[in-house]
Amino acid sequence: MKIAKTISAARAFVRDARRPIVLVPTMGALHQGHSALIRRARRIAGEKGSVVVSIFVNPAQFGPKEDFSSYPRPIEADESVCREAGADLVFRPEAAAMYAADASAFVDESRLSMGLCGASRPGHFRGVCTVVAKLFLIVQPDAAVFGAKDWQQLAIIRRMVRDLDFPVKIIVHPTVREADGLAISSRNAYLTPDERAAAPGLYAALRGAATRNTPAAIVREAERRIACIPGARLDYVRLVDSAALEPVRRLDHGTTLAAAIFLGRTRLIDNLQIPARS
Ligand code: PAF
Repeated sequence: MKIAKTISAARAFVRDARRPIVLVPTMGALHQGHSALIRRARRIAGEKGSVVVSIFVNPAQFGPKEDFSSYPRPIEADESVCREAGADLVFRPEAAAMYAADASAFVDESRLSMGLCGASRPGHFRGVCTVVAKLFLIVQPDAAVFGAKDWQQLAIIRRMVRDLDFPVKIIVHPTVREADGLAISSRNAYLTPDERAAAPGLYAALRGAATRNTPAAIVREAERRIACIPGARLDYVRLVDSAALEPVRRLDHGTTLAAAIFLGRTRLIDNLQIPARS
């Protein structure tokens, strides 16, 4: 496995790499969820293709009061995860290499980014789209793998790829969960023992609510169940069209029940895909 710390080193790898090139963009602090994405990338690339993992804590997607400086950066452990899961290249640039101090060009998705997490994290998805577009331009992947846990991110990246004609196939990998249902996330490490014990309540609430028969009843039931999670503060619960992320009035096509809560200072997100019902 090679390591590239500069854009020119990554470009040199790409120039000689065998295709397909499959990219797994990450911010590091890699866990079993990321390993699953890298392994999936390996299967798609096959023995002959190339798997690139980017590790970059992207300052452009953190708000001023968010955890950019405290975000974990266990780079040696991350490189071992990449090696074991079958990566060929780890691209881990410094922030100064990715953004000029006076950078003033960004990629902005202006519709799907407005609601859900975008409403409470202004500018977040502009940062995500900008860095993912830059990674696509540097690594020139044939495919890129994203986790379903960040469903809004996935939908926005699909929209960006469609609207800007990136020749990249977007692969979605199912959310990897702990045995008790909690979606695995780097930020779970921030939870106190009491918060960790309460955290699986989020997914349980979404699952319980999805048994209701109308969109309004599903959202109401999710809110009611989340209100019963000890210490939880609701950010949002929405039932939306899975691609356009618009609120739905019917359940006759695939929908996404998405929620965010705070447990103490930690913000947790999760979602459930609800198949069409007649
Ligand atoms: O999902 C993440 O870890 C990040 O948002 C991503 C896609 C790597 C962009 O920084």
